Amino acid sequence: MLSAIFALFAGLSVVDSAEIARPRSPIVLERSGGFQIGGKTVTTNSTFGPPGQTQELSCDHGYIEYFIPWQPRKTNIVMWHSSSTQVWQNRWDGGEGYKDMFLRRNYPVHLWDGPRVGRANWACVPTQYYPNYASDHGNFVAWNLGPSYKNWWPDVQFPTTNDAAWHQATSARYVEYDTEENVQLHSSAAAVAADSGKIGKDIVYLTNSAGGLRAMMTATKSNTTNIKGIVTYESIGYVFPDNANITAGRGGFGPFVVPLAQFKKLAKLTAIQFVWGDHRADSYEYVQQSRLAASLINKYGGNAKVLKLGDDAGLKGSTHIPFADIDNAKVAELLDEFLERNGLDGYGDEDGDEGRM
Ligand SMILES: *[C@@H]1O[C@H](CO)[C@@H](O)[C@H](O)[C@H]1NC(C)=O
Ligand SMILES: *[C@@H]1O[C@H](CO)[C@@H](O)[C@H](O)[C@H]1NC(C)=O
Ligand SMILES: *[C@@H]1O[C@H](CO)[C@@H](O)[C@H](O)[C@H]1NC(C)=O
Repeated sequence: MLSAIFALFAGLSVVDSAEIARPRSPIVLERSGGFQIGGKTVTTNSTFGPPGQTQELSCDHGYIEYFIPWQPRKTNIVMWHSSSTQVWQNRWDGGEGYKDMFLRRNYPVHLWDGPRVGRANWACVPTQYYPNYASDHGNFVAWNLGPSYKNWWPDVQFPTTNDAAWHQATSARYVEYDTEENVQLHSSAAAVAADSGKIGKDIVYLTNSAGGLRAMMTATKSNTTNIKGIVTYESIGYVFPDNANITAGRGGFGPFVVPLAQFKKLAKLTAIQFVWGDHRADSYEYVQQSRLAASLINKYGGNAKVLKLGDDAGLKGSTHIPFADIDNAKVAELLDEFLERNGLDGYGDEDGDEGRM
């Protein structure tokens, strides 16, 4: 009926027919806001007042900006970037990003900045920004837009002739810290956030790149059952148990090795999915790590799978950030399927929990 009405108007309208064909439901929010969580207060001797007086600095917290739909589903989606929150906000060409897509689907959406990055950059220690004049080149290759700078994959899901889109993409970055310490810092603050109940009792992390390792570590540190799922898009770095003969890495990309009891918390999650674009070969070390991590999680009763967008779902030309790709609507449909299949798409529940904070 609705499609018949739209078909009728399509003939009269100046609006692009593709827009008419897929009417979008409005985004209706009950509220939005933000807060700091985790972190600590450093107390030192006063550098000014009388001797013996102390002074404090509250620092190293994370920051959450939240958007709660008027009729929310139960699952709270936490979007965890590795470069900046912008990757969740818009498609590469400025079109609709995951944030609005999943608000339209009535999921509460939370944008997370871990300690020392983005809007949580109030650090407990000195930090420094060193400009790297090769960053644009580095981003191009790291984000798998092509094998070398401005040498695009022929099928890449990026508007390759739109120079403004490229500058938007490559400049939307925060200073980041790819260190072991920062992984611990982010995951500790995120675990406090997860256990606080302030982002609900049903949390699914969506992560990109180095966010995936941080979310896995968060699940091993959480002491509640609030974390229900993790979907990583091209996660660089994985967590393993200490009985698997895996040597921990020293940097910010793992492998992270944790006591078996902590690792088993990953097996308690409803579902985990490690997603890869089709320009990642099976021989790529992090694809291999994702398969090993999934099999170890499943060995302890968990539900973890690897999804290759090309081989398994027929989506070609995905970048390192597939949820911002031109075909992100198709990538989002795969996430819909994941949430539905695992019973994470419901509204409220029988015991009256509205799924709100
Ligand atoms: C703070 O001051 C006390 C004496 O008032 C001193 O014993 C202590 O070492 C000082 N601590 C620091 C961190 O400077
Ligand atoms: C979980 O419990 C352990 C042991 O009591 C504690 O050390 C840790 O800080 C707790 N985690 C969080 C996120 O509160
Ligand atoms: C553990 O790994 C090392 C090298 O990574 C290998 O040499 C050794 O044989 C392995 N041990 C077992 C018990 O698998």
